[in-house]
Amino acid sequence: MEPIQIAEGVFDVGVTDWNIRDFHGYSTDLGTTYNAFLIVDEKIALIDTVREEFAGELLDNISRIVDPKKIDYVVSNHTEMDHSGGLARVMHRIGEDKPIYCSKMGHKNLPQHFSRAWDYHPVSQGEELSLGSKTLTFVETRMIHWPDSMFTYLNENQILFSSDGFGQHYAGPERFDDEIDDATVLHHAKKYFANILMLYSTHIQKLLEKVMGMGIEFKMICPDHGIIWRKNPQKIIDAYVSWCRQEPQKKAVVVYDTMWHSTEKMAHAIVAGIKQEGVPVKPLHLRKWHRSEIMTEVFDAKAVILGSPTLNNQLYPSLADFLTYMKGLKPLNKIGAAFGSYGWSGEAVKLLNKELEAMKFEMIDPGLRVQYVPDEDSLEACYELGRKVGQAING
Ligand code: FEO
Repeated sequence: MEPIQIAEGVFDVGVTDWNIRDFHGYSTDLGTTYNAFLIVDEKIALIDTVREEFAGELLDNISRIVDPKKIDYVVSNHTEMDHSGGLARVMHRIGEDKPIYCSKMGHKNLPQHFSRAWDYHPVSQGEELSLGSKTLTFVETRMIHWPDSMFTYLNENQILFSSDGFGQHYAGPERFDDEIDDATVLHHAKKYFANILMLYSTHIQKLLEKVMGMGIEFKMICPDHGIIWRKNPQKIIDAYVSWCRQEPQKKAVVVYDTMWHSTEKMAHAIVAGIKQEGVPVKPLHLRKWHRSEIMTEVFDAKAVILGSPTLNNQLYPSLADFLTYMKGLKPLNKIGAAFGSYGWSGEAVKLLNKELEAMKFEMIDPGLRVQYVPDEDSLEACYELGRKVGQAING
């Protein structure tokens, strides 16, 4: 990625990772970017770095603007290695004595990743750093999404450097929201929220209320991944306000796996019943759809219906994987039900019910079990379960 000037004296010097397809369990089918920002004033500051393997490219980008040795300050908004992995190479190049500004938790966490005696400057909420004619203000955003996370605001240009917040795992020729259609960028932003930030919805809601209450204006929001919001930063703020509420849509998903297509036949009969009630619904086969795509669908669905065969008295392994993933993300305001085919013991439905109840799903049915292959009556029962789900969604 070529460095680009995004405002007077402010440059995006980040890199594009075109080839990453799995970001610790999140499908990144189009790759992603690691954005980093250089502010050139009387003093020069670098905000965030990139993954370690891209540090050379970052330094090349910086070199096209200034000699990296002229950087006076490094700001670390977030310790996670996609933004700090390049720190050691950057510090080696710019000078190991250069100060690193980070949150108080960043001051605890960075040394646990890098055993170097760097000159850390832990900052407080609202603390400022003057670069000359420009001023940085640090905003603590603890647990959005790591304890060390913070935002940095460039007062004079009204630019927010928002770390992971408002980001998207998206790599393309576009750099700004006015170069890409809203549906595409918002889809990737929603996927990011659903898979990385959803469990912190309440924190994010409070932060947004606090920031909006402070009357801070944003001309531009620069996340560390994906597209920069400059045409209409309010659009992504409004989307976050809505997403934080986790208000479900009139929509259902039927998430299942199958051994010999019996549970799949049940899934399709349930889907037909839901459709009959006029509710949009998708059947999602767990070994055909990536869990992070499924979670994006789950995010705004009112009903999540799970189907699993029984294998060796247990859930099918893909269901166990998905339940672990979904449980960690803490979806709210869902209704649920379970179904599955079995051969002789048939524990899967009971196990699914238990997991969904633990996640505080409103269970609308005790669940459907079918021995071996569903016959006409069994499929009719599945269809009726689907209708019940559709009716519950319609309220
Ligand atoms: Fe993009 Fe939490 O790192």
